[in-house]
Amino acid sequence: MPDAFLPYGRQTIDDDDVAAVAAALRDDFLTTGPRVEAFEAAFAEFVGARHAVACANGTAALHLAMLALGVGEGDVCIVPSITFLATANCARFVGAEVVFADVDPDSGLMTPPALEAAIARCGGRRIAAVLPVHLRGDVAELPALRALADAAGAALVEDACHALGSTMSLGGDAAQVGDNRYGAMAAFSFHPVKTLTTGEGGAVTTGDAALAERLRTLRSHGMIRPAGADPWWYEMSEIGFNYRLPDILCALGLSQLAKLPRFIERRRALASRYHTSLAPLATLVRPAARPAWSDPALHLMTVLIDFAAAGRSRAEVMAALRARGVGSQVHYIPVHQQPYYQARYGALDLPGAQAWYDRCLSLPLYPAMQDADVDRVVATLSEALGR
Ligand SMILES: Cc1ncc(COP(=O)(O)O)c(C=O)c1O
Repeated sequence: MPDAFLPYGRQTIDDDDVAAVAAALRDDFLTTGPRVEAFEAAFAEFVGARHAVACANGTAALHLAMLALGVGEGDVCIVPSITFLATANCARFVGAEVVFADVDPDSGLMTPPALEAAIARCGGRRIAAVLPVHLRGDVAELPALRALADAAGAALVEDACHALGSTMSLGGDAAQVGDNRYGAMAAFSFHPVKTLTTGEGGAVTTGDAALAERLRTLRSHGMIRPAGADPWWYEMSEIGFNYRLPDILCALGLSQLAKLPRFIERRRALASRYHTSLAPLATLVRPAARPAWSDPALHLMTVLIDFAAAGRSRAEVMAALRARGVGSQVHYIPVHQQPYYQARYGALDLPGAQAWYDRCLSLPLYPAMQDADVDRVVATLSEALGR
């Protein structure tokens, strides 16, 4: 029998997850019900945040963060070019312009010098937000990024969609991604390839009660029910959206959350096995660089490959992997090169992002993988590279 196909990422759904969703389906509330608050409370506790606001997906989380901060036309937001489209698009949703920052070519992360260079390109416009991305789960250099954002008068909003469970420790300071020690808010995604899934889903964490309140209002049409008003009465003073996460999906989130420490531990063990197994291929393949302060719960196992030295293109290597049952993916095409952004801002030279893009490839990583699967991926990659 051929080996099972190994995708680059995959959810882990057990019988208890199915039972939790089935129980929610039999209950009174399919949309806003008691599991929403329960999930928010449990999620906030897990990441060490004061407030968590669940929402429809990670894109909605980023959009809500921009709305809650009052970002709008005339503002700019700084976004690293190596990320998913949504990190940049959330600025455009509210009419703000995007200034793309370069990244470190070996970690793919926005560095403090890259942020400084991007700030210098903002041309005196109000910088409303800086959005570092904890790519694949490695944590960006938050203290220095926060200091630069503060000096520019900008809020720091972490795109933490890859980094649930990651921690950092720098200069005696320890932080968990999402605890809002450095960021005004952090946005999470619960898409199936992420560390915890609700199918579609997301959350924003914040330490600021007023921001949390705004996020909740904007998540549901901007509607408020003033205390003491008639029972049917609601008011809308500003426009919001329907970005709610239903009770059914919060049931899945709660069930997944109970297993999150196990998922994270397994991801860490698999990543460590990859590091050891890949060592003999070091002239051609290196895991993405891990900053000294970052202790990631990796969402993606991204490696950097010298395709020219191997004499194979990335497309050939991906096809060879696929033919042998191994999925892989590119994270990411630099967002500043997307036709929409090129048409808006012209061609931009970001050499770090280009060097990252030229070499990156994400290999299978998800909790249900066996140790032998890692060995198979590495052996298949070695073959695909002609070693
Ligand atoms: C870095 C990053 N930001 C934002 C998002 C958007 O999340 P969602 O797909 O849940 O809307 C993703 C999802 O892939 C992501 O990887």
